[in-house]
Amino acid sequence: MRILGIETSCDETAVAILDYQENSGFRIIAEEVSSQVRLHEAYGGVVPELASREHLRNLPLIVDKVLKETEQIVQELDLICVTQGPGLKGCLLIGVCFAKGLSASYGIPLLGVNHIEGHLLSPHIDCHDLDYPYLGFVVSGGHTEIILVEDVGKYRCIARTIDDAAGEAFDKAASLIDLPYPGGPSLAALADSTHNDVFELPKVMREAEGFSFSGLKTAISILVRRNAEALSKDPQLKAKLAAAVQDAIIDALCFKVKRAVKETGVSVVCVSGGVSANLALRKKMRSLKGVKSYFPAFRYCTDNGVMTAFTGLQRFLKGVAVNSDLEIHSRWPIEEMRL
Ligand code: KG4
Ligand code: ZN
Repeated sequence: MRILGIETSCDETAVAILDYQENSGFRIIAEEVSSQVRLHEAYGGVVPELASREHLRNLPLIVDKVLKETEQIVQELDLICVTQGPGLKGCLLIGVCFAKGLSASYGIPLLGVNHIEGHLLSPHIDCHDLDYPYLGFVVSGGHTEIILVEDVGKYRCIARTIDDAAGEAFDKAASLIDLPYPGGPSLAALADSTHNDVFELPKVMREAEGFSFSGLKTAISILVRRNAEALSKDPQLKAKLAAAVQDAIIDALCFKVKRAVKETGVSVVCVSGGVSANLALRKKMRSLKGVKSYFPAFRYCTDNGVMTAFTGLQRFLKGVAVNSDLEIHSRWPIEEMRL
């Protein structure tokens, strides 16, 4: 069967086509991601209205492109999977309305996909022998969650974001240090160029149940204010501050992972979401004793259509009914995806 995946929950317009055969599994036929980074750069963050307009302009073009490239005839698609939530309302609406239109016009079954579940299952895309159970560690721009994944649709949340997500912590710290947008990758690149032997940041999240980066954010803004003049004159000092921030965020993330492994007795941790592209996080996670960590390939860390198609397919194979009448869910906790 042929599956079309559509993802427009934030600032990436992404489309993919998968082929699935019962005896040989799935393979990726086509994938295309169009990032809106340049569009939002001037504003220092994603502007929801601009993001939806860009999806509206871009999505039909990208769908056309992957169909033409692969000579896929629309009528011969067997399933359309579209991100239904969580995400930005306007952005989700563009993807869902487009998918509904395609589904209705050509009579193709439609399935809504939870974006977090997409990230959670994304390590399976290029790691075909990954077994359940594992701890899914989603570290994206909007979510930081550790979820016990016993199977597709069998999830238990172990810890989740109380305030800012890990990606947001990277992005906000980058903006405090005055680094270019997108903050996460530019802070990481600067941090990786040096090591910190100057700044001290608090070890956060030792007590809290969930993930919280607000204390760290306050500490960073105090450091920036106190050292404003030196930071503006000395690029090396700025790099050291970036390294201190990266170390502090990664330390907090790994502390929670170790605790979750101890609590659940599950030692396999699959890291996904935009921040899983961070090299220092990968290195630290791989060094944790008693933890076996998996990361998706870099292009499946950030938002993509393959994970949407893959997740929809997994749910379809588990018997989840298709639904032509999808509504968007700007908030959609993973617990609601239980089968
Ligand atoms: O999963 P994603 O593409 O979108 C959401 O669903 O949120 O994640 C985007 C987030 C952004 O906050 C971005 O700054 C962060 O992932 N990010 C990184 C890196 N690459 C992307 N953060 C730290 N280091 C990176 N290398
Ligand atoms: Zn995402």
